[in-house]
Amino acid sequence: MRLVMIGAPASGKGTQAHKLTRHFELDHISTGEMLRAEEAKRSELGMVVESYLKHGQLVPDSLVVRLVGERLIHNHLAQGVILDGFPRTLNQALALDKALQELGQVIDAALLIEVPDSAVLERITGRRADPETGRIYHLKFSPPPPEILHRLVQRDDDTTEVMQARLGTYHERIAPVVDHYRNRRLLIAVDGTPAPEEVFQELLGRLSSLNIRG
Ligand code: AP5
Repeated sequence: MRLVMIGAPASGKGTQAHKLTRHFELDHISTGEMLRAEEAKRSELGMVVESYLKHGQLVPDSLVVRLVGERLIHNHLAQGVILDGFPRTLNQALALDKALQELGQVIDAALLIEVPDSAVLERITGRRADPETGRIYHLKFSPPPPEILHRLVQRDDDTTEVMQARLGTYHERIAPVVDHYRNRRLLIAVDGTPAPEEVFQELLGRLSSLNIRG
């Protein structure tokens, strides 16, 4: 099963991708996490992407496509893959189709999580991540156990100002990506405003009706 997950910042892509990864035993490829890891390592790529992340702008297509391409080649042992936050531009979508075609694979579904802009700010300010497990919490909507509170971290780009930029970038670039998958009848759009488990059950129900093999 090969899925892509599209949605605004803080729409719940990471939360749902983790659940789907566990449920279907998929390889979870999050371009945001990969880019933050490069930044933290202070690698050559990390130094290049730092200012894009800091200002809520998209990292150039060529860099992200290369990163994802390298991961896909090493993915052949997993039962499938979920791409979280990729593609975000039409160029990325076309590059992904080409890379998969070379591997003899196709995208089975593109999951679009829809959440109004008004909801994302509260999600952003309350988001905390556990660096030990990679789990994402929310202080109000998905509270962490009290004993791990001290080690939770907040992302540098989770500020109101950077969030506005991230939202603006999302709305500017995503329409052709959504059309790309809708035209191929691969788009599954779900309401991302109910509780995470409800959104997950909706995704499972919609995916099960597709009868995806392999
Ligand atoms: P990335 O890390 O992908 O950030 P994003 O798209 O802004 O998405 P987020 O990670 O903020 O949110 P999410 O949708 O995963 O929501 P989450 O589940 O955490 O990218 C960061 C940056 O990297 C980009 O700005 C860009 O610079 C660069 N980049 C990444 N990919 C790129 C690409 N392909 N091309 C170019 N540049 C790229 O949930 C958010 C919070 O809400 C959590 O606290 C969670 O607990 C809570 N929550 C989740 N679901 C619910 C719910 N149903 N109800 C209530 N609360 C909920």
